[in-house]
Amino acid sequence: MFIRNAWYVAATAAECVTERPLGRTLLGEKVVLFRTPQGQAAALEDRCCHRLAPLSLGDVEEGGLRCRYHGMKFAPSGQCVEIPGQQELPPAMCVRSFPLVERHGFLWIWLGDPSLADPTQIVDCHWNGAPGWPTASGYIHYRANYQLIADNLLDFSHLTFVHRTTLANAAFPNARPEVVPFEGGVRLYREILDCEPSPLHRMAGRFTGRVDFWNRQVWWLPSVFENWAGSAIAGGDGPPHERPGALHFRHFSLLTPETEASTHYFWIHPCEFPDGDASLIDAVGEGIRMAFDEDRWIIEAQQEVMDRSPSVKPKGLASDVALNRIRKMTAQRIEEEAASTPGHPPF
Ligand code: FES
Ligand SMILES: [Fe+2]
Repeated sequence: MFIRNAWYVAATAAECVTERPLGRTLLGEKVVLFRTPQGQAAALEDRCCHRLAPLSLGDVEEGGLRCRYHGMKFAPSGQCVEIPGQQELPPAMCVRSFPLVERHGFLWIWLGDPSLADPTQIVDCHWNGAPGWPTASGYIHYRANYQLIADNLLDFSHLTFVHRTTLANAAFPNARPEVVPFEGGVRLYREILDCEPSPLHRMAGRFTGRVDFWNRQVWWLPSVFENWAGSAIAGGDGPPHERPGALHFRHFSLLTPETEASTHYFWIHPCEFPDGDASLIDAVGEGIRMAFDEDRWIIEAQQEVMDRSPSVKPKGLASDVALNRIRKMTAQRIEEEAASTPGHPPF
């Protein structure tokens, strides 16, 4: 069960090229993404309406996507615009198309009720590759339900233990964030003054001593995590994130469920380095990749245990407050969507 009336990242913009369509499973649905020679990206259900061949095996052409089986051609709207050997184009000869918006380096798809698709609700990731923001990025395929990954991102008390060589900050377990729910998710604020920087912050900021550290995070329902994190030399005036010479990370983790048991995990890590020197961006990207491998290692193992013991319920700790809130809000949204489509199962 997923929230359907929401924007999810279907792919990076760079993955969707004119040369070939891209088949991908999103929220359990087979979708084909393609880009016309004019540069317009489109998303259709990955099933020809004729004999149900996957359209992702087809060819992109001027004006649409041609099925590889008997050659029907579909416009980005999903309407059939050509049938080889047949003049008549019955209006019913169409496939479902999905609202798709290209923004900030991603293709955002709406798999729910298309009449509700409002592009102003797309999370603002404009730092991605922006001038002055060298950006590391990546993709991870997870064999785990997306909510286990959300739980992980919403509880940084694991950093000290999972990320010993990358993100570990010994102060984390005792520095609980302030958790502020809002209609679209949860905000978390954490500031740790006069602490040892994590290995990643020390390297990226070229810090030689102690720092004042901050996290300002937003969990945007259903599954985008925004993490503005950084460090400044300990003891300066004013809030650390406002000090000149601070290190800023404008990180986003963007989760799109593939199925109940697997997840597409896109991430970007735009950085503002204290001295404007971008030469460390590759090393930062490598550090993030290592850290996310560490997360995947523990989360996929956790998923396996949960699959083996479905009747055992996890027990809560005080540090679970944000993830519990998001789980509750998610369940509520799924329930509301189901209730707003009487007589039908959720989309
Ligand atoms: S299955 Fe696509 S044209 Fe026949
Ligand atoms: Fe982690």
